[in-house]
Amino acid sequence: MGTQSVDRLTDHEYDGIQEYDNPTPGWWNWLFWATILLCFPYTLLYHFGRIGWNIEEAYTQEQAANARLMFGDLKLTGDTETVMKYTVQPDWLAVGAAVFSANCANCHARDGAGMVGGGVNLTDDHYKNVKTPGDLARVIADGANNNAMPAWKTRGLHPNEIVLAASYVATLRGKNLPSPRGAPEGVVIPPWPKVETPAASAPAPAAQKK
Ligand code: HEC
Repeated sequence: MGTQSVDRLTDHEYDGIQEYDNPTPGWWNWLFWATILLCFPYTLLYHFGRIGWNIEEAYTQEQAANARLMFGDLKLTGDTETVMKYTVQPDWLAVGAAVFSANCANCHARDGAGMVGGGVNLTDDHYKNVKTPGDLARVIADGANNNAMPAWKTRGLHPNEIVLAASYVATLRGKNLPSPRGAPEGVVIPPWPKVETPAASAPAPAAQKK
């Protein structure tokens, strides 16, 4: 900085006003370009990142971790009836949704429509390994296609989280989102069994906590 301020005048003059030739210092210019370059990896990681760097993902991961604390003595089995039962209990379904966005969205996409080179579309009526809602829980627990679909029972998911994720996946059906994978995969299966919307008696995790 110091050496620049020797009295060197620029050669222009406006209304008698002259100015010194004081270029921005080199360190400032480097910083300026560095911030511009940094914005590209930053945007990629923060807005499209899959490693939980953005606030939304960090939140859902914490939500999923928190859900375990709320399970208490609850032990869910992945049968069709249980999976369907939790499709109509919004507070528990939110746990399944959090599990999904924390663990499954990176292959099946956030909206469940699937990804090229990743998981299949979970929003249409076509399934490869599933005929009943109970199969959803089984496939999530045990995996499929030589672990192209990982077995989540050995990947640190709580058994209840697997069942609630199955309930959440069951609710994705019927959204019929177009998949980047193209044509539907598997075969059309019968509709899920009907489920009664519960009376307001079911204890919700949020309510229990308070
Ligand atoms: C590493 C990528 C990957 C991740 C992560 C992943 N899946 Fe999958 N999933 C797949 C693939 C690939 C298939 C298709 C398997 C096949 O071809 O039979 C699949 C299939 C499924 C199916 C059966 C669909 C059908 O048509 O039979 C369900 C349900 C499912 N995944 C749910 C989940 C859930 C819930 C999670 C998170 C807990 C998850 N997946 C995480 C890759 C993934």
